[in-house]
Amino acid sequence: MENFQFYTPTEIFFGKGTENQVGEIIQSYGYHKVMIHFGGGSVRKSGLLDRVEHALQEHDIAYILFGGVQPNPTLSLAKQGMELCRKEGVELILAVGGGSVLDSAKCIADGVGNPDIDPWQFFLKKEVPKKALPVGAILTLSASGSEMSASCVITNEDGGFKRGFNSKTHRPLFSILNPELTYTVSKFQTGCGTVDIMMHTLERYFTKSKQVDLTDRLAEGLLKSVIEAGRIADREPENYEARATLMWAGSLSHNDLTGAGRQVFMTVHQMEHELSGMYPQIAHGAGLSALFCSWARYVCPYAVERFAQYAVRVWNCEMNFENPMQTAQAGIAATEQYFASLGMPVGLKELGITDEKFEEMAEKCTFFGQRTLPDYIELGKEEIVAIYQMAYEAGDKTGERR
Ligand code: NZQ
Ligand code: ZN
Repeated sequence: MENFQFYTPTEIFFGKGTENQVGEIIQSYGYHKVMIHFGGGSVRKSGLLDRVEHALQEHDIAYILFGGVQPNPTLSLAKQGMELCRKEGVELILAVGGGSVLDSAKCIADGVGNPDIDPWQFFLKKEVPKKALPVGAILTLSASGSEMSASCVITNEDGGFKRGFNSKTHRPLFSILNPELTYTVSKFQTGCGTVDIMMHTLERYFTKSKQVDLTDRLAEGLLKSVIEAGRIADREPENYEARATLMWAGSLSHNDLTGAGRQVFMTVHQMEHELSGMYPQIAHGAGLSALFCSWARYVCPYAVERFAQYAVRVWNCEMNFENPMQTAQAGIAATEQYFASLGMPVGLKELGITDEKFEEMAEKCTFFGQRTLPDYIELGKEEIVAIYQMAYEAGDKTGERR
């Protein structure tokens, strides 16, 4: 086991009706002025926003509303939020929505806490936010894990750069997780979320680190639960237990638990961020789904045993001791079939893009030649283009679904 730090200070309120406690919760922390931050309108439509406003009013907490966050949230909107918070003397940002809303809130919080620094410098890792406004969350979509993570991912429309960085300031003060709030999430977004949750653990599982048995077993158990819950939620959107499993797994998958004692680099995420940075209409989970199996096939020859372990323990494949590569490949194929069964793309053509931007995306992914991705083998520009190309040629399974 490698040395590690583990810091998850976020207070979790999990279960039915917990969003109605939000006024009481904020009051218990002593804040009086809040900005409610939300997305494109799902929270208005569901009536959640009304309930949140009511809960704040009941506890005499003043608030302003700031909506309009789009999936793959932008720096320009976050900058507007910073201005508003300063002008209104906001003390806490309450993010009500999915990962995009949470990340936008985190970015605003950093900006307000460090008024003399251009916030994009944080994403370029040239500056560190020393303080930030506190962020609380009411999560409406199980996917990103942002409700407990140290990460914040934002797109700078100037150049189409999607970048993330980790900071202690990004761990929300509290997160309210009511699985019922995810009943209205579409089949497509449920599929994207299931993939993203799996990927946060898979990216920690498939790294060059030494074996860590406890961490492996936690990861494999989480993956098995998510696979089953994802299947059920796809068919029965109002199945509480399935939605609850996805929601809690989403948080645990990205709060560093399933990577403890192992190196983490999130290679496929790095490649996906270039994809949805270049094409903002692509949902993060769909981008991951379109890339993962091609990446896995590319690096599998360098980690056959690991992929075979995954196949046996997660997908119940039979171990072929004479030909472990065959077992390893069976696990990747099972993952691919599962993603496709959720209506997720398993190749880049399914996302409706061409292959003309792969060189540019790979350039950006290597920070214009300043880094390689430290995977089972080092991935530089050439290798990244090769993986994009493999994913492009992976075929279109749209017609074979379900
Ligand atoms: O904007 P509204 O109207 O709310 O609609 C959203 C949005 O269109 C909708 N939605 C959310 N909750 C709903 C709902 N629709 C119906 N009922 C509900 N209860 O779903 C759509 C997608 O929302 P979004 O927040 O974009 O999805 P997600 O939670 O998957 O977040 C994706 C973003 O998170 C980043 C991704 O890169 C992407 O930008 N990530 C953040 C991470 C982090 N901070 O730790 C880690 C992840 O790896 C990821 O990179
Ligand atoms: Zn992700």
